[in-house]
Amino acid sequence: MEAKAEALTAAAAVDEARLWSRQMAMAEIGATAKGGVNRAALSDEDRRARRLMVEWAGDLGFEVATDAIANLYIRRPGRQADAAPVVTGSHLDSQPRGGKFDGSYGVVGGFEALEAIVRAGIETERPIDVIAWTNEEGGRFQPGAMGSAVFAGVLRLEDQLGLADLQGVTLEDALTETLASTPGLPHRPFGHPFAAYVEAHIEQGPRLESEGLTIGAVTGIQGLYWFTVEVSGEEAHAGTTPLKSRKDALKAAVAMVHALEELMADESDTVRFTVGRFECHPGSPATVPSRALFTIDFRHPDPAVIARIRPNIEPVCQASARGCAVSVRPTIDNAPLQFDPALIDMVEGYAEALGHPVMRMPSGAGHDAGHINHLCPTGMIFVPCERGLSHNEAENATPADLAAGARTLAACLVDLANQE
Ligand code: GLV
Ligand code: MN
Ligand code: MN
Repeated sequence: MEAKAEALTAAAAVDEARLWSRQMAMAEIGATAKGGVNRAALSDEDRRARRLMVEWAGDLGFEVATDAIANLYIRRPGRQADAAPVVTGSHLDSQPRGGKFDGSYGVVGGFEALEAIVRAGIETERPIDVIAWTNEEGGRFQPGAMGSAVFAGVLRLEDQLGLADLQGVTLEDALTETLASTPGLPHRPFGHPFAAYVEAHIEQGPRLESEGLTIGAVTGIQGLYWFTVEVSGEEAHAGTTPLKSRKDALKAAVAMVHALEELMADESDTVRFTVGRFECHPGSPATVPSRALFTIDFRHPDPAVIARIRPNIEPVCQASARGCAVSVRPTIDNAPLQFDPALIDMVEGYAEALGHPVMRMPSGAGHDAGHINHLCPTGMIFVPCERGLSHNEAENATPADLAAGARTLAACLVDLANQE
């Protein structure tokens, strides 16, 4: 069969009902009362999600492997057993009050694409892998996109092992337990070669829905920067200590957030600035707070704007210290990036060939694909989500749109897996 026709045959074998029923089965793990999921990285729920993937892989006779940071690999072998695989995937962990589709769609949809290829009777030269990357969200252990960053050599695993979550559990312990929950899997080395990587994801923003389109051919990812700011002052009696002699860590931290808001002011509404965690210690009404901690999430697509704002983040915090000690620790430093032009064309071309209205668009959210882009030609496929809502329990997508993305993905995977 001609290459493109074979890719479209695989796409046609994508089963919308099967994909939806797997998405819903996955969404039961860590389900919240408001219809979302809470599946923190390396938690019991994450382990159950992994075991479900391993079970489905076993049913279809796929090979399963892992690595030292518990990235999970599901392989449909190729004719050339040792050729570098074509890879898809995303993550199974969620935000603490996350939705059913952020991440899990890229894994479950990738798995559907793999099953469709098998059911269409198509063999490929290269193996095709679906990966569930560990800890993309970074809600429990920072930074996020950790599994793909360690795989890509952007972070070293040794430097992450001592990280602790809010309960004091270390990444090392959570990892050991997670690896033990899928025993007997062979381990792959970090950084082993990929021929290409294509990740499917819900858009997490409103553009596709508002323009009535089904597929986004993702052109790149905006710059993403995280900082953890720790402010240390002095505990004192709330009733007796004059204001001028206090070192109030909370009030200093609040002043820093206001100053940062001014630094980030942007009439075009392109700068993204979020303080998603804010802690105050010891947290007693009658004690002046001695310690405050907050996170900064700053994003922008334009290197010139990033070069203006990013170096000023720490000085702006220091200038509002009000006698406290301040530490500003960067935890994510991802420059804006462009995906592979040929892969952008390919996603767009197959979406069109399948009759799915498509547009090129950048990603506002970060993804594991950003790290893998350093290693091999990389691209992404977006599908719409209701009202553009994500990182929210109400996150929603339609079975038809999810299937359209999986069809586009299946076609790309077959095409790529038959290339030299
Ligand atoms: C991914 O979840 C992000 O925060 O962009
Ligand atoms: Mn995601
Ligand atoms: Mn997310």
